Amino acid sequence: MTKQFMMEQFDKLKRDIEDALQMVTEGNALEQLRIEFLGRKGKIADLMKEMAALTEDQRKVAGKAANEVKAAVEAAFLKKQDALGQQEASGRAEKEWIDITEPGAWPKEGHLHPVSTAIVEIADLFSDIGFTRVRAPEIDWDYYAFESLNMPPDHPARDDWETFFVAQTNAQAATGAKGRIVLTPHTSNSQVREMEKGKLPIRMININRTYRRQSDITHVPMFHQFEGLMIDKGITIAHLKGVLDYFAQQYFGKDRKIRLRPHHFRFTEPSFEVDVSCGTCGGTGANCRVCKSGWLELGGAGMVHPNVLKAGGLDPEVYTGFAFGWGVERTLMMREGMRVDDIRLLYRNDLRFVQQF
Ligand code: PHE
Repeated sequence: MTKQFMMEQFDKLKRDIEDALQMVTEGNALEQLRIEFLGRKGKIADLMKEMAALTEDQRKVAGKAANEVKAAVEAAFLKKQDALGQQEASGRAEKEWIDITEPGAWPKEGHLHPVSTAIVEIADLFSDIGFTRVRAPEIDWDYYAFESLNMPPDHPARDDWETFFVAQTNAQAATGAKGRIVLTPHTSNSQVREMEKGKLPIRMININRTYRRQSDITHVPMFHQFEGLMIDKGITIAHLKGVLDYFAQQYFGKDRKIRLRPHHFRFTEPSFEVDVSCGTCGGTGANCRVCKSGWLELGGAGMVHPNVLKAGGLDPEVYTGFAFGWGVERTLMMREGMRVDDIRLLYRNDLRFVQQF
């Protein structure tokens, strides 16, 4: 080992370090490099150790040069560290820059379930012709669901409503002057309840959940009905027909018609089944895959039975009225362009289905 050789080694080391520093782009790499060269077991320390082999004179000169190199290298590291720090700061400013004038991100917006939308629409249409929305209980006495509607206990007509009864103890049953408690199988329980309020004339629409023991492609155990009731002096079938026509044209379309077919309900006389002309074939029925006959069945209607008026405290010689009651789901599905082949889809909570509306 000669002094000359040592000096060359230091020079080389200095150049190596300068080259390596050029390549460094971030703090961790710089620290690695610092340990490699300036650390206790680093390359400069190694070279220093080798100076032990030189003569004392040589060592003085070489040592001085070595210290200069070391100081220069340390300065170079500090300079680099500084440069990196500044780079990082300006990089962060670039990365974290926010354009406060940019429009915000909208939260995902949902929408009402199609049945809820139908309820709102139906209520609005009737409200426009002076029908007030009321709410009768959806769990009610047998009396309002059946008995007051001209269906005495054990009357076979009750079988048409596949009713859920609420279990009661014998003691409860004994005190219940109005019979057992049912999950209302139709919205007609609102009829006598509305009359009992004693305010005439009546123009009400009751939209509510209804329950029946049934489940297949056209039935769900929980569904909705809307019930219309109008009572005043001199109300006739012509008024009923007029209101139904209005509804059909507003909800289904201007060219749709209503037809009343004779039917039987205990609480109306006469009673009708209400049909609406088919929107797919225009009412001709010719080769129509939807209706077969030109007409689609909507639901029941009729002139309020005298016994029901009496149950509501009204004199049937003075007052007359009409009532109708239809399924919301059925009405919704009948609307043109809303062909749903299984009514249960409405309540499966499948977003792929619901989002189509
Ligand atoms: N409540 C009857 C049903 O659910 C429909 C109806 C209502 C019929 C009002 C006549 C008058 O089937």
